[in-house]
Amino acid sequence: MIDLTVAQIADIVGGELANISATDAAELHVTGTVEFDSRRVTPGGLFLALPGARADGHDHATSAVAAGAVAVLAARPVGVPAIVVAPSTQAAQRSTGPAGVLEHDVDGSGAAVLAALAKLAAAVAAERVAGGLTIIGITGSSGKTSTKDLLAAVLAPLGDVVAPPGSFNNELGHPWTVLRATGDTDYLILELSARRPGNIAELAAIAPPAIGVVLNVGTAHLGEFGSRDAIARTKSELPQAVPRSGVVVLNVDDPTVAAMAEVTAARVVRVSRHSPADVWAGPVTLDELARPQFTLHSGDSAVDVRLAVHGDHQVSNALCAAAVALECGASAEQVATALAGAGPVSQHRMRVSTRADGVTVIDDAYNANPDSMQAGLQALASIARGAAGAPRRRSWAVLGEMAELGEHAISEHDRIGRLAVRLDVSRLVVVGMGRSMSAMHHGAVMEGSWAGQAALVADADAALALLRAELQPGEVVLVKASNAAGLGALADSLVAENGLTDQAQGDPR
Ligand SMILES: Nc1ncnc2c1ncn2[C@@H]1O[C@H](COP(=O)(O)OP(=O)(O)OP(=O)(O)O)[C@@H](O)[C@H]1O
Ligand SMILES: [Mg+2]
Repeated sequence: MIDLTVAQIADIVGGELANISATDAAELHVTGTVEFDSRRVTPGGLFLALPGARADGHDHATSAVAAGAVAVLAARPVGVPAIVVAPSTQAAQRSTGPAGVLEHDVDGSGAAVLAALAKLAAAVAAERVAGGLTIIGITGSSGKTSTKDLLAAVLAPLGDVVAPPGSFNNELGHPWTVLRATGDTDYLILELSARRPGNIAELAAIAPPAIGVVLNVGTAHLGEFGSRDAIARTKSELPQAVPRSGVVVLNVDDPTVAAMAEVTAARVVRVSRHSPADVWAGPVTLDELARPQFTLHSGDSAVDVRLAVHGDHQVSNALCAAAVALECGASAEQVATALAGAGPVSQHRMRVSTRADGVTVIDDAYNANPDSMQAGLQALASIARGAAGAPRRRSWAVLGEMAELGEHAISEHDRIGRLAVRLDVSRLVVVGMGRSMSAMHHGAVMEGSWAGQAALVADADAALALLRAELQPGEVVLVKASNAAGLGALADSLVAENGLTDQAQGDPR
């Protein structure tokens, strides 16, 4: 939410006015939100014209203005009041490419509009920070969105919080989120993702975080980076961007992250899930739905924490969120209470539901890389083990492709197939016919000493048919893949089939 005149915005982004006089531009205020989807424009807003897969935003400028947009930020005149920035081939080269925001930016017009958005967000962020806003940036290979959701919950008792919806973390979603902060916002949480070196530095320059969090350095997007070292260097752009007056929260259980203490001028807060550190967890136990419980230690204080999210991997995420909240002035008790009430928020991310027939579905179909596959399988194994003394439940892992692993795709899929066996999953269903999926299936079959079974099926429909035929009451199913594999719909069908008795995330305990 911004309050700037069209003329001021043109000045900030270095654009020319089109279809609006200088006098009108000096009087017309943008008071609403900045939107790139014309259907979301509300009165007083600013519309960003970006090229997309099916449509070019420039073609929707008229309807955006009809919906109340005061002006359009565009790369060419569009027949309605606009701030026009020149297409930039140099910027285009930086952000185009597979799966980039500007995949369909053929002439650099999208890059120009995004560069203008970055300038606008930077100007607004600087003004908000001067007014007392605290910016928190989170990066890491896995767990940014999960941590963002937990952090939003633990900061809520302290003030007004703005956090991105879902996983808005790239050169569009990040500045878009920055522009949601109002004069009343106390804390702005930002997720910073990277597809290539320099991405995180660029995002951090738009809204310099006073507090930076690095969760882990894993193998997500290994295909684009080429090596884990290159990923680590890129993640370290965040601690480098935090000023001396700021704080960097590091998960020191990951040695690559711990080493980032060397590259920042800021004060470092160390977080560990097993060893004494500035903020750390005592022994972690998991309940029957793999929700972690532990003692949260910070300074002299020790409080018991029960998380409402599922999976052992959430401990590190919760500790990082806790460390930030403690820095912002929360008490350890406030943090524990907020964490206990913070269940899964984002769709298809470790949502655990139990059907009327006792089948538990773990829907983690949104995202998969080797680290999060491991985390998901461990959560499955933990739920299958159940509460102490309870009989073991039969478990199914329905796994689709992990995208963007480049030359490592075959070996990493093979490794996950073997891991499913080592964790003694009862049934592995590998979904998809590509070489990677064959490798996962083959890995499981070759691992040996396994009482379970592996099946390779063509697609989500075939997987669902298999489950309908063979899944028994009381069993546990993990559904997980990169979003592109389309297993989200399968998870939805599976959850819906037998009627819900207990949406675990709503369980008040
Ligand atoms: N600390 C962690 N270690 C390993 N896996 C994790 C961790 N936190 C979350 N995950 C798992 O990783 C997957 C992605 O989680 P999440 O969406 O929070 O990550 P992200 O970093 O925001 O991903 P993206 O880069 O797609 O935005 C989920 O399957 C989740 O269960
Ligand atoms: Mg995310």
